[in-house]
Amino acid sequence: MSGHIVVVKIGGSTLGQSDTSLADLVSLQKRSERVIVVHGGGGEVSQWSSRLGLESRFVDGLRVTGKDELSVVVAVLAGLVNKRLVLQLNALGGRAVGIAGVDAGLIAAEARQPELGYVGEVTHVDMHLLSTLLDAGFLPVIAPVCHGVHEGKQTFLNVNADDVAAELAIAAGASSLVFLTDVPGILDGRKQIFSRLTVSAVQQLMADGVVQGGMLPKARACVTASRSVAEARIIDGTAEHALLREFDHRTGGTSIVRDELA
Ligand SMILES: Nc1ncnc2c1ncn2[C@@H]1O[C@H](COP(=O)(O)OP(=O)(O)OP(=O)(O)O)[C@@H](O)[C@H]1O
Ligand SMILES: [Mg+2]
Repeated sequence: MSGHIVVVKIGGSTLGQSDTSLADLVSLQKRSERVIVVHGGGGEVSQWSSRLGLESRFVDGLRVTGKDELSVVVAVLAGLVNKRLVLQLNALGGRAVGIAGVDAGLIAAEARQPELGYVGEVTHVDMHLLSTLLDAGFLPVIAPVCHGVHEGKQTFLNVNADDVAAELAIAAGASSLVFLTDVPGILDGRKQIFSRLTVSAVQQLMADGVVQGGMLPKARACVTASRSVAEARIIDGTAEHALLREFDHRTGGTSIVRDELA
């Protein structure tokens, strides 16, 4: 994949476990692969919210984000989770730089679902800073805290990390979008993995309620990305060297492809 850009979304749910994803990212950087990392961290946002007496509520896998929840999202994702990842990657010998969607106007978003509060959908990506970082050999690590207008004021907006990964993959002209999560891929009702799904098959699984919760934004992101990214993959980030194996010889996981590529 040398020369191409690959966007890797790390699920918050797999972070903190003794998985090898971070070591793999450093290995890829040493091989001069151009990788953009996007991270979530929903579990940790929920933990800190409850410590502060805030309840976590979700609608179709998206966190309902009021003013107080927004402060927690910004502090935990753009602060603690992002900087911890950078610390760990650099301790492993990487050259990681942690930024958020607000930095250098990277990701503009719009709040389109009033019932979700400060939750945004991506409207514009400005690749300038990311290209500069990649050209200089850095490993960019992106927190999904974006900027936009809500109730007439400039504000942070909480954007699902899966959406951010998809929109960055499109804007960067990425050859591949990889989601590392805590399940082997998209599973059917009997927990059997789908190894390859077309966009219309994924849409059917969403409509049928087979794909639910946190898998919904991920599946939607794969559908969105498939417009211009050749392949979107959902793989088990807890498996040893899942990411290196993904670059070298793909095994396991679910591939989502445009219908005409099936
Ligand atoms: N059909 C399905 N196949 C696989 N997983 C599913 C399915 N439907 C729902 N899920 C749920 O989706 C979860 C993955 O999404 P989740 O948002 O929890 O993790 P993540 O996106 O990797 O992490 P984060 O949200 O912190 O970035 C799985 O753990 C599983 O419980
Ligand atoms: Mg998620």
